[in-house]
Amino acid sequence: MLRHLIPRPDAVRAAALAADLDAADLRSDPLRAAWGAEADDALARGMRSPLLAALGERDDPLAVLGRFFVLGMPQPADAVAAALPRTGIDGLEALGLAYRDGAQVVPAALVRPQSFVDVDGVGEWWIASDLDETALGTALPADHVLGVGGATRTLAGLVMPAAVDRALDLGTGCGIQALLVARHAGRVVATDISARALAYAELNAELAGVHNIDFRQGSMFEPVAGESFDLIVSNPPFVITPRVEEVTAYEYRDGGLIGDALVEEFVRRAPAHLNPGGAAQLLGNWETRDGVPGRDRLESWIAPELDAWVVERETLSPLRYAELWIRDGGTTPREETFEPLLDAWCDDFAARGVTEIGFGYVLLRRPPAPESGGASERTPAPLRRLEHVEQPVSSAGRAFATGLRAHDLLAGGMPERLVVASDVTEARHHMPGQDAPSVIELHQGGGFGRTVAVDPALAGFVGACDGELTVAQIVAALADLFEVPLADLWAELEPRIRALMIDGFLLPAS
Ligand SMILES: C[S@@+](CC[C@H](N)C(=O)[O-])C[C@H]1O[C@@H](n2cnc3c(N)ncnc32)[C@H](O)[C@@H]1O
Repeated sequence: MLRHLIPRPDAVRAAALAADLDAADLRSDPLRAAWGAEADDALARGMRSPLLAALGERDDPLAVLGRFFVLGMPQPADAVAAALPRTGIDGLEALGLAYRDGAQVVPAALVRPQSFVDVDGVGEWWIASDLDETALGTALPADHVLGVGGATRTLAGLVMPAAVDRALDLGTGCGIQALLVARHAGRVVATDISARALAYAELNAELAGVHNIDFRQGSMFEPVAGESFDLIVSNPPFVITPRVEEVTAYEYRDGGLIGDALVEEFVRRAPAHLNPGGAAQLLGNWETRDGVPGRDRLESWIAPELDAWVVERETLSPLRYAELWIRDGGTTPREETFEPLLDAWCDDFAARGVTEIGFGYVLLRRPPAPESGGASERTPAPLRRLEHVEQPVSSAGRAFATGLRAHDLLAGGMPERLVVASDVTEARHHMPGQDAPSVIELHQGGGFGRTVAVDPALAGFVGACDGELTVAQIVAALADLFEVPLADLWAELEPRIRALMIDGFLLPAS
């Protein structure tokens, strides 16, 4: 039976460990080179034998620490001691990351290199988290602390890249979002209900040498009562879970409430903690109940004065949702507990009249205070966008920031000159033998990867936005060309130009 230790963060020992990991070059690229790209990818699918086969009998520090910290396997004590000369086995034990067992040292946690890219460039940290199912060889315990997963990366990609004074990461887990946000924040508060998670988060900040994060234990917004922030990020425990004995309430994914009540609570309570111009960004699920679409229910939780942008990425039936999260908990249909779990989930959804569960991104912003005497002194009507987007999304954080900037700018009127964003292309589709296109589409390479059908006048407008000609000049020229009254053309084009600006197709010429 593996021992379930809790990390004991210690600045001096963590610095020694980071120096040892650095000397061993325990980084993503050297590891991928050591065991090969295909085996590296297989690890994410729970396979480790291809990686072990590639390492063979190697006993250099990279191989020993790869097996020990990345795969979570016991290693000979003398090999671990040689690979970690500054930390030593005593240091590992003091940090709560391993324990001796005869001639072996047993890891109590994973410590994996985690690379990241942001506006300041690329970097890599070591992120400690609990042993995963592959390392444990059993289902996860309820207090499991997750490492970096798919949802973690999704949220990290959504966060708007702006320097802020104060930020909050609610439900920090291993601390990865707090570390990322700390790169552009004066001070970050990282909270979690789990003391175990906070111990990992604090240790990871010490390993990364990041010192502008305060760690606080408590549920939801309790640890920050009365405080406000410029940015709140959260990958909260939103997974909808039936409240019956046989279903494990995993702390890492389940906040203990009924249905989507945790997301509702977040959306209702976050605004009280936002400074003017401050934004909250989170992932969540929302239920379609008794025919009321999930997005409509979500919209009803949003305070009317806030800007809100919700991007629903997928919807699942109750059955598919139940299957997804039962498998995530390590139970497969071959096991006899699978069907009782499935029944529990489906009964729970049926009891609330749930027919569909949406998943997506929520961005809430308290509108910035209008600059007195500035161009945007007029307070715009709040942005309210709830949309379903299924195509691949990249750099969503930039797309959100561009959209909000355009919304603020448009409060002061249409900018004088516009330019076409560099990732926009135009496609014209013709009926065979016809000169005039029957469909013209603008396509966006980055952001939300949108494709928008435009008519010849709007296509002409966008094509002429070179930052030299003014908007007024372009519209006047088009009115002449199409022989239509200028006022009519402008009435038709203006809302569509505004939408193209919010969507990032058109940008103000600087
Ligand atoms: C899905 S994990 C997110 C971890 C990390 N932030 C990430 O992005 O990978 C959710 C975290 O919320 C924590 N949590 C669960 N219930 C909570 C609550 N009521 N209040 C605050 N945090 C909670 C869990 O312990 C867990 O660390």
